[in-house]
Amino acid sequence: MKAAVWAGVNEVAVEDVPEPQLLNSHDVILKISKTVTCGSDLHLIGGYIPAMRTGDVLGHEFTGEVVEVGSGVRKVAVGDRVVVPSFVACGNCWYCRQELYSLCDNGNPDPGITEGLWGQSPGGCFGYSHAMGGYAGSHAEYMRVPYADVGCFLVPDGVSDTRALFASDSVTTGWTGAHLGGTKPGDVVAVWGAGAVGQMAARAAMLLGAEQVVVIDRLPERLAQVRQHVGAEAVDYSTTDVVAELRERTGGRGPDVCIEAVGMEAHGTGVTGVYDQVKQQLRLQTDRPVAVREAVRACRKGGSVFVLGVFAGMVDKFPLGAVMNKGLTLRGAQQHGQRYVPEILGHMERGELTTEHLATHTMPLSQAAEGYRIFKDKVDGCVRTVFEPGS
Ligand SMILES: NC(=O)c1ccc[n+]([C@@H]2O[C@H](COP(=O)([O-])OP(=O)(O)OC[C@H]3O[C@@H](n4cnc5c(N)ncnc54)[C@H](O)[C@@H]3O)[C@@H](O)[C@H]2O)c1
Ligand SMILES: [Zn+2]
Ligand SMILES: [Zn+2]
Repeated sequence: MKAAVWAGVNEVAVEDVPEPQLLNSHDVILKISKTVTCGSDLHLIGGYIPAMRTGDVLGHEFTGEVVEVGSGVRKVAVGDRVVVPSFVACGNCWYCRQELYSLCDNGNPDPGITEGLWGQSPGGCFGYSHAMGGYAGSHAEYMRVPYADVGCFLVPDGVSDTRALFASDSVTTGWTGAHLGGTKPGDVVAVWGAGAVGQMAARAAMLLGAEQVVVIDRLPERLAQVRQHVGAEAVDYSTTDVVAELRERTGGRGPDVCIEAVGMEAHGTGVTGVYDQVKQQLRLQTDRPVAVREAVRACRKGGSVFVLGVFAGMVDKFPLGAVMNKGLTLRGAQQHGQRYVPEILGHMERGELTTEHLATHTMPLSQAAEGYRIFKDKVDGCVRTVFEPGS
């Protein structure tokens, strides 16, 4: 079958790879209907995440039709239309029982690499390197989904594939940030990054009752989406002093919850921006924490900062003094999708949550290299490129 694979730093190629097989009784095989690029793939393709091998199948956000089921699968059957969170979780370990699914003790069959990096291994993720379990991803005609009763969710009849697709990763990630960031009714929430993840964090905060939500980016077409499709306020950081602007918009106090949805390749301005880029390129720091620093500065005293953007290792010039003296709560997570998908599909079914605008580009899987180029360079207003392996 055809699949889009990692072919070296900043190279994506479409190649013939072996078809997936059922490996244990809780697996299903999906025929992928739609699969989409994610900002996390850019860090991976750019060579910032260790343990990619050439030929690894990319992709972790997808919908599909069940075409084969293992003998132990109870929840889904052949012919079902499903969406699956990007993190693989067993549903039975201590972490899964706390609904911290991306921390599953059994989701990553190769925990050694991340244990070495971080002291403990989080779960595994589809199409996200051998550090995250070495699972073949969704940019393919067919895909194996382990722990299918935990990971597969039926898409309601009234919800299109294009809408449901984003319940796999972008929306669930946004939900994780807004919920575990502690958003309460009446709160002011600021979100850095107006990619699919930042937009969905903003929408989640609104649906959790936030009174005012502000999203920060510099790309005009994304800021326009924030206003038009999310219904939040938008701030252009390239022309605005963000910390001062947020103070101004919040009666001098600052946001209650600050969500960072930018990640390790953040775009910086001024001297610290150049400093971070040089240090990252010389491998003296692995990540560029521009937006996290700004979130810590902007957050109101006693507020909470949630890191959704992907970071791999060490950062420099981190304002720990502000975290301590301002009494902030600092938290982060890979998304705990299995916890939020049912609630999200409900919002999608009722029309309270729409995602179609994120799918700015749709093409056959054979054009994956071009699809990634458009997405990476953020040209032609691209927010996400959707691939249809069947077309
Ligand atoms: N925690 C999780 O489970 C999870 C899941 C999916 C994605 N992610 C991560 O979330 C982040 C966002 O993902 P995405 O798909 O929306 O990415 P994206 O690349 O489409 O969007 C990132 C946005 O951040 C903006 N940006 C860059 N520097 C900025 C700055 N200094 N201040 C404000 N905005 C800035 C860019 O202009 C861009 O619009 C990535 O790091 C991705 O890896 C995490
Ligand atoms: Zn992702
Ligand atoms: Zn588990």
